[in-house]
Parts: sequence; C-alpha cells; structure tokens
Amino acid sequence: MVSKKMQSALNQQIKHELYSAYLYLSMASHFEASNLPGFGHWMKKQYEEETGHAMKIYGYVNSRGGRVELEAIEKPPAKFKSPLEVMKQVLEHEKIVTGTIHTLYDLAMKENDYATQVMLQWFITEQVEEEKTAADIIEQLKMVGDAPAGLIMLDRALAARS
Ligand code: FEO
Repeated sequence: MVSKKMQSALNQQIKHELYSAYLYLSMASHFEASNLPGFGHWMKKQYEEETGHAMKIYGYVNSRGGRVELEAIEKPPAKFKSPLEVMKQVLEHEKIVTGTIHTLYDLAMKENDYATQVMLQWFITEQVEEEKTAADIIEQLKMVGDAPAGLIMLDRALAARS
C-alpha cells in the first residue's frame, strides 16, 4: 500500500503529466495552424508521451492498492510566439516537471517507500532525456535563425519522429 500522503502526491503528478499533455497539444495546434506540420507532429507525439506518463503512474497507484483521484486540469495557453520561443517554453516546463518528480522522490525516501523510489527512477531518467531533446531543438533553431529554408528543413526532420 502507498501512504495517503504518497497517494495524494502521485495523484498530483498525474495532473502535472496530463497538463503537460494538454500544453503540448495546444502547441501542436498552434504549429499546425502556422504551416509547420512537422513541429505539430512532434508536439502530438509529445502529447502522447505525456498521457503515457500519466497512465504509468495511474497503473502504479492501482497496483499498490491506492485510489486514483483526478484533479482539475487548467487551460493551457492558446497563443504562442516563434518556434524558438515555444521550444524554450517546453524546456522550462520540463524543468518544472523534473522538479516535481524530484520532490516525489524525496517523499518516497522520507517514507522508506522503496517501490515508489524504483518506479520514479524511470521518470528521473526520462526527464534527463526530455530536457536534452528540447535543448537540442533549441540549439538547432538558434542555428536556423531567420532562414526560412532552415526552418522548413527542421520541420521535415521533426515530422519523422516515430
Ligand atoms: Fe512527463 Fe515531459 O514529462
């Protein structure tokens, strides 16, 4: 069994992951309306990943005899700036999520909840990857600068994300 405190913290994390999904879907919509379908595709994949993260925690809470209680998800922004600014926003958001995972891990250590620590280790590794991917795209966008040809090439590259 997870403790009541841990259950509540995990439920909060489900909300963070679902908000991330919502945010990235909103970014996908922005890109698709801006003639950047590759960026849109990349963001929809990101959306799918985030719902996967939420469901991973959902499954874990149930497997430990806990009860998932869904929290309200706030409305994500609908207006965005340049692709570079959007990707910077992604990186900042991922850093916040990394912080929430680390806080959860701290709680799991405090409670000697070893199973939750093991489950969270996957997320800690995943966050390193997520931050790196966003940072890499930011660097590529900086290289592209104001060159439309470069942006179109990058858009095609992002369209290939499986
Ligand atoms: Fe589920 Fe991108 O953190």
